[in-house]
Amino acid sequence: MVEKEEKKLTIEDLPGVGEATAEKLRENGYDDIMNLAVASPKDLSELSGIAEGAAIKIIAAARKSADIGNFETGEQILQRRKDVMKLTTGSKNLDELLGGGFETQSITEFFGEFGSGKTQIMHQAAVNATMSEEQGGFDCDVLIIDSENTFRPERIIQMSKGKDLDPDVVLKRIHVARAYNSHHQILLAEKAGDLAKEFPIRLMIVDSLTSHFRSEYMGRGSLSERQQLLNRHMHDLLRFGTVNNAVIAVTNQVSARPDVFFGDPMAPIGGNIVGHTATFRVYLRKGKAGKRIARLIDSPYLPEGETVIQLSENGILDGV
Ligand code: GTP
Ligand code: MG
Repeated sequence: MVEKEEKKLTIEDLPGVGEATAEKLRENGYDDIMNLAVASPKDLSELSGIAEGAAIKIIAAARKSADIGNFETGEQILQRRKDVMKLTTGSKNLDELLGGGFETQSITEFFGEFGSGKTQIMHQAAVNATMSEEQGGFDCDVLIIDSENTFRPERIIQMSKGKDLDPDVVLKRIHVARAYNSHHQILLAEKAGDLAKEFPIRLMIVDSLTSHFRSEYMGRGSLSERQQLLNRHMHDLLRFGTVNNAVIAVTNQVSARPDVFFGDPMAPIGGNIVGHTATFRVYLRKGKAGKRIARLIDSPYLPEGETVIQLSENGILDGV
């Protein structure tokens, strides 16, 4: 396990931040030290009405206390990598494609069109995470941020039975939060750490990562704001994964790219921000009779490749 972080300082612990300043900062969304540490002085000053000089000092103090910009030795990173665990997807084919399954301390993204099986794969991951380590699980609790209202306990029951698990036990270990809009979704991810203090959460699912952002920030004018928020959100997720040695699994839709005339014109939402922060990206395409073709894209150390899985009443299986 990764050492639990945080002697949890609040923004009032920073030099130069009194009660009044803290209030102004909080009102404008700078509610913890990490948010301040990654803020730009100009934004901070404009948004919260603090002089730019003061903003620079507050940010510098936040960076110091948040350990931003600290170097780790290769040995430390190797040690952290040794804690990495793999969670089975339910399909041996898909596990192999991913180098053994969903990896902790990373974000794994499934993208594809409607009905391609993203939500099914997330339900299966939730069930599998509750299994013992010998069975490929983590014997852990699961957190699901459900932004599309597609979590179905009935599917969890079916999939649990498919694995000879007691559905009541599995359901008790899955904690679901509906996200009503993108800000709510961001907030839920930030608060996930609190739940992890109460329950051993080693899998966090966000289904879907991008749909609220996509519908709320339409048009070119709001694109950069959308990307900034998505970036912050993904880094919150990644931090949760690192601190808790947890798998982060997210889903993403595709949109047609008007600029592509040859090959596959479908591209995942979220552009470079999502692409660069997700460690593993899997593209799902529909095949015949519940078959789905999963393609690994852009992995840092695994070869690109394809495999076939089968959606069934019992859950995700190998395709043949
Ligand atoms: P969007 O969220 O709409 O973008 O789609 P998605 O990629 O999340 O699709 P989802 O995972 O909901 O997949 C739906 C597909 O799963 C259905 O079209 C079915 O093929 C399959 N499926 C869902 N439930 C069952 C089931 O109980 N039995 C079988 N055999 N297939 C199922
Ligand atoms: Mg879905």
